[in-house]
Amino acid sequence: MKQDTAWSPHSWQALPARQLPAYPDAAACASAEARLSTYPPLVFAGEARKLQNQLAEVAAGRGFLLQGGDCAESFAEFHPDNIRDTFRVLLQMAAILTYGASCPVVKVGRLAGQFAKPRSADTETRDGRTLPAYRGDIVNGIEFNDIARTPDPERMVRAYSQAAATLNLLRAFAQGGYADLHQVQRWNMDFVADSPQGARYQVIADRIADALAFMEACGVTAETAPVLQNTDFYTSHEALLLSYEQALTRVDSTSGDWYDTSAHMLWLGERTRQPDGAHVEFLRGIANPLGIKIGPTATAEDVLKLIDVLNPDDVPGRLTIISRMGCDRVGDRLPPLVRAVHREGRSVVWSCDPMHANTVKSSSGYKTRAFGSVLKEVRGFFQVHLAEGSHAGGVHVEMTGQNVTECVGGAQDISEADLKDRYHTHCDPRLNASQSLELAFLVAEMLREERARQSTGRAP
Ligand code: PEP
Ligand code: CO
Repeated sequence: MKQDTAWSPHSWQALPARQLPAYPDAAACASAEARLSTYPPLVFAGEARKLQNQLAEVAAGRGFLLQGGDCAESFAEFHPDNIRDTFRVLLQMAAILTYGASCPVVKVGRLAGQFAKPRSADTETRDGRTLPAYRGDIVNGIEFNDIARTPDPERMVRAYSQAAATLNLLRAFAQGGYADLHQVQRWNMDFVADSPQGARYQVIADRIADALAFMEACGVTAETAPVLQNTDFYTSHEALLLSYEQALTRVDSTSGDWYDTSAHMLWLGERTRQPDGAHVEFLRGIANPLGIKIGPTATAEDVLKLIDVLNPDDVPGRLTIISRMGCDRVGDRLPPLVRAVHREGRSVVWSCDPMHANTVKSSSGYKTRAFGSVLKEVRGFFQVHLAEGSHAGGVHVEMTGQNVTECVGGAQDISEADLKDRYHTHCDPRLNASQSLELAFLVAEMLREERARQSTGRAP
C-alpha cells in the first residue's frame, strides 16, 4: 500500500480494539516497544513481495498454498527438534501435493511469531477465583496464578528473540541442504514410517527419487538446477498484538512502502475483523500479503467491505481469504461469498482452515477436533469451488511434527481416552504428523480431480 496521510503504524490506536491485553505498567510497555522498534527486522520486504507474487499465481489457479504450524508457539516448547519436525512434515505434505497433483506449492509456516491468541472471554474463573485469560506466551503465562496471568511487556522482547532464532533455523533448513529434494526419502519420521501414511509417503518419495535420478542422467542436477536443492519457506502469524506488530513495522527503502517485518504474511483473525476496528486499520497500511479469517457469520457484504479496505487496488496475491465455516456449514456459507467476490471481479486466494470451526469438548474435558470433521470440511470446500468454477487455492492447518494425541480419529484411530497421553498444545488441538500426511493425501487427490476437470474443460 502506498503511504497516505491518514495511515501511520500507530493510527490504529485511535480506533476500538478488541482482544488486546491491559498492561498494568504503561512505562514498562513503552520501554519494551521502544527497544523492539530498534531491533533488526525479522524478514525483508523483498521476501514478502516474492511471496505475494507466488500467491498471485495461486490466485490465478496455478499453485496451491500450504499454511500450517502451531496454534500457539510457546516458550516451553521452544526446541530445535520441534522446529525441525514441524518443518519436515510441512516438506512432506508439500511433496505429496506437488507430486500427487503436479502443482507448485507455496509453503508458509504458522511459525516464528505465532504467539498471541484471541480468547472468547477476558477472564477465566477457577474454583471461585477470577484471573485474566491466557493470551499466549507473548502476553502472559498459562499457569493459573496472579503473577503468571498479569500481562508482561517484556514477554514481547522474549518472543521476538525466539522468533528470530526459529527463523534462523528455518532459513538454514530451507537453504542449507535439509530441504534438498534428494533428501525426500529421509524426511519420513521414525514413528510415522511404519504407519500406513508413512508407507504411502515412501511410495511417493521413491518415485520422486527415481525422477531425480532420471533428470540427473539428462544433466539436470542440483548444481544446474539449484531449485532442487533449496526451497522457499515463509512465515506467518495472526496480527493480533498490535503494539508488537507496530514496533516491527518499518519503511522499505526500495519501495517506500511500509512492511510489518515480524513475518512475511500476517492474517486478520475472525474475532478482530471489524472494518472500522484497530486491527483492520493497522493491516490496511502494510504492504505484506494478508490473510483474512472468515467464519460462518460473515456476509458477502462483510467480505467485500474487507476486500475494499485491505486491497483497494485489487493487487493479485495481496489477499488470501481463509474460510473456517465448520464441516456442516461450509456447503451453505461459502458459496454466496465466492459468488460475490467473483461477481465483483476481485482477485483472492481461497484457502480452507478446517480446524477452527470444528473444535469440540471431549467427554474427558479436553478441547479436541475429530479428524473426520477436518476432512469433511476440506472436502466440502473443494466441492464448493468445483461447483462455482473457482480454484480451491489452499489449506490452513494447525499441526505439529510431534506424535501428539490432540485430535481424535485418523488412521491411528486416536480415541477420547487417548487424548491425555500426549496432549501438549498451549491452545487448540493440532494434527499430528501422521494425521497431517493423511490430510495431504486427501487434498492431493481433490486437487488432481480439480485439475483434471479443468484440463478437460468439464468445469461446471
Ligand atoms: C487461529 O488461527 O489460531 C485462530 C484463533 O483462528 P480464528 O481467528 O479463525 O478463530
Ligand atoms: Co487455533
